[in-house]
Amino acid sequence: RSTTNEFTTQTATDPVPAARRAEMLANPGFGKYLTDHMVTISYSAEQGWHDAKIGPRSDLTLNPSTMVLHYAGEIFEGMKAYPMPDGGGALFRPQANARRFNKSAERLAMAQLPEDSFVAAVRELVRIDRDWIPSGGEAALYLRPFMIGTEIAIGNHPSDSFQFIVIASPVGSYFKGGVSGVSVWVSENFTRAAPGGTGAAKCGGNYAAALAAQKEGAAQGCEQVLFLDAVERRWVEELAGMNVFFVFEDGSIQTPPLTGTILPGITRDSLITLARDRGRTVREEPYAIDQWRADLESGRLVEVFACGTAAVVAPIAQIKGRDFDLTIGSGGMGPVTAELRKALTDIQFGRAEDPHGWVDRV
Ligand code: COI
Repeated sequence: RSTTNEFTTQTATDPVPAARRAEMLANPGFGKYLTDHMVTISYSAEQGWHDAKIGPRSDLTLNPSTMVLHYAGEIFEGMKAYPMPDGGGALFRPQANARRFNKSAERLAMAQLPEDSFVAAVRELVRIDRDWIPSGGEAALYLRPFMIGTEIAIGNHPSDSFQFIVIASPVGSYFKGGVSGVSVWVSENFTRAAPGGTGAAKCGGNYAAALAAQKEGAAQGCEQVLFLDAVERRWVEELAGMNVFFVFEDGSIQTPPLTGTILPGITRDSLITLARDRGRTVREEPYAIDQWRADLESGRLVEVFACGTAAVVAPIAQIKGRDFDLTIGSGGMGPVTAELRKALTDIQFGRAEDPHGWVDRV
């Protein structure tokens, strides 16, 4: 029995050939390819966390009554290993992901994974698959730690066993158009999260519930969907997998507050800090959709952007609803969006000082 910070290692005997890997890294897309290895740690009520392993990436074999398949007991994180100028790699605020992962686990009545085990697991995978960290542009190695309820039972109750897994995928831009503006559909028919619900947890169920709205938006020619609050259908919350920021004429910035229905983004938190470092006023305050429309018309609102680990910082160029269709600014990347995007990515890619100690070399 291994502890959760000591991993039994088995190297892949049939890794992707270097030439093929180079092709994948040159044109990674988003989430198309997986690296050679994966981490697994098991949990049972009797043994606690045990059997920490890093080994060849393989398929999962699950009994058809495994709880996750029926009741969606699944949580995940999104992180990246960034290529550093000296050829090494680094994580960005991994402890923050570990902390959020346990908050998600608590909300879904799943086991708590010690934060140092979470971080050790991710570091181990990055180390063994370091040749999969792309270089050039803003490509990185996306890491997907997740946990599933593995009890074999048809009855619905908290699972008594879990599997924690980390996989990795080289990624480029999340959006097909790169960083040119994203179009957003304002959903009237669907909401993402209600007070008391799972909105602040990073669980697969939230993303599944957003898909019908996403599909509705796609039918309107939009790439993303924007959700309003579930009570008044008035306050801007977030996109299906990204937080949202507003930039005003006076240089101030606003983003919806974390009231329990919004995902507490680590990119969101980092951008708030970086904007304040630069002397900008940042408000974490509710913003109404009507106000958004009025502020666009008056010229008070000059830029809007989405942010997340996958999306980085992506300008929102167009907002469309049942009875409106508005372009934001010039329709591309505004100067404040560009400034904050650069401030963040310069730290992540080791091109700038790291005053907050966010970069964690692997
Ligand atoms: C991330 O930004 O890392 C996410 O988990 C969002 C997902 C839609 C890719």
